[in-house]
Amino acid sequence: MNFELKPLSLVGVSSEKCDALVVLVTDAFKAGKDDLSLLIAQAIREKDLETKPGKLLALYRPVQAHAQRVVLAGAGEGHAKQVRTALTAALASLKGVSIKKVVVSFAAAAREDGVRAAVQSVADATYTYTTTKSKPEGRTVQKVLVAAANASEVRASFERAVGIVGGVELAKEWANRPANHATPSLIAKAAQELAKLPKVSCTVLGPKEVSKLGMGSFMAVAQGSEEPLRFIVLRYDGAAKSQAPTVLVGKGITFDSGGISIKPAPEMDEMKFDMSGAASVLGVFKALAHLKPGINVVGLIPSCENLLSGRAVKPGDVVTSMNGQTIEILNTDAEGRLVLCDALTYAERFKPRAVVDIATLTGACMVALGGVRSGLFASSDDLGAALFAAGEASQDLCWRLPLDDDYAEGLKTGFADVANVAGRAGGAITAAKFLQRFAGKFPWAHLDIAGTAWKSGAAKGATGRPVGLLVEYLLTQSTHS
Ligand code: BES
Ligand code: MN
Ligand code: ZN
Repeated sequence: MNFELKPLSLVGVSSEKCDALVVLVTDAFKAGKDDLSLLIAQAIREKDLETKPGKLLALYRPVQAHAQRVVLAGAGEGHAKQVRTALTAALASLKGVSIKKVVVSFAAAAREDGVRAAVQSVADATYTYTTTKSKPEGRTVQKVLVAAANASEVRASFERAVGIVGGVELAKEWANRPANHATPSLIAKAAQELAKLPKVSCTVLGPKEVSKLGMGSFMAVAQGSEEPLRFIVLRYDGAAKSQAPTVLVGKGITFDSGGISIKPAPEMDEMKFDMSGAASVLGVFKALAHLKPGINVVGLIPSCENLLSGRAVKPGDVVTSMNGQTIEILNTDAEGRLVLCDALTYAERFKPRAVVDIATLTGACMVALGGVRSGLFASSDDLGAALFAAGEASQDLCWRLPLDDDYAEGLKTGFADVANVAGRAGGAITAAKFLQRFAGKFPWAHLDIAGTAWKSGAAKGATGRPVGLLVEYLLTQSTHS
């Protein structure tokens, strides 16, 4: 899909040939002398159109425009959320119509966040997964023209959004793939593919190297599966070597059966999405290669399956993590923290300015925050505030949860330095407290995306979150350094 931004007012837009034209009509709309804007003004006057987001008025081949179909869409004050509501409704109303070229026009001056939301909403609304269909019916939209009279003011936001969309779509693709089409080895291949992009490089470690590093915790999760584990190291070098990198760590469990502590059958298929953290890291690297900020970023992906077999790790087993801490695995379904803790130890070698892990870690986080906001935990208030702000700016929201030491009480055991689970209460927080034990040497944050990485039910599918949040955060760092 190709995005373009043009400095066009409604006069210019009306002569654009396209299959569909969506005009975002905000409160600030003032009719000019052209036919299209006079038509809009009339529709508002006669109460056939409101500027309330979600309100639509559909037209077919109106003489006022060269478009086959025109949808006038109320967009309130034109900020991100309102533009998203407007475009989601407008594009839904066009469902079933084969559209190759769509024009999205801001009838009044466009806001930066509005333009970003426009690009992301069109991408979201037209995305279709096809990889494992025998007769793929992909997205029909090939060209998206965004038109705003003040295009020059919003061009930077537009470019940023286009870069993010590329990353979001890569994340969706990998998260959506079923586990037999997204094994640890295939994820590693995808990462190596990214290394063909400018400034990106990739190294992949297998079972031998990981064993040499002493990642006993990660290996314990992988040992129940026939699929060999992979530890993926991605680098984006956009600044001098002397500049400390930000490290992103993505949970890459390609299927989480729960292991011997097996999960119930209903919805177990959704545990193919348990590598959404890893997929988001791949997506971020794609976006970085496109946007080329002057920063250094490292991506770490510990990837394996969590299965049951005669070799699988058992409840009560004690393993030794890479930093020497012993862990009693009381529940084999709390495997995410077991693969992440060794990756966090590995992150130390980069002397990072910050480490952010991204994981579909706990059902408890989904219960706490639902599908709207990801859970955010941070050992540093500055880092926590920066990630929270990036979430607001990108509309890829998160919410900070506490890390009081009292929450770690339940992780105590007489058989190892730490247990991998505490009680049911505060499950998202106790998981974060476990991780924090391995993140003492750098500012650290943890995003629990269990509720936000995918949608269940009829619209089942990956969301590509939190690529938008992460890219926004990283770009902000590049302007500060
Ligand atoms: N991948 C799951 C978390 C999850 C569950 C995400 C459902 C989204 C939907 C994770 O590995 C897990 O199984 N966590 C357990 C932890 C528990 C055993 C302490 C959970 O949340 O039940
Ligand atoms: Mn699990
Ligand atoms: Zn899991």
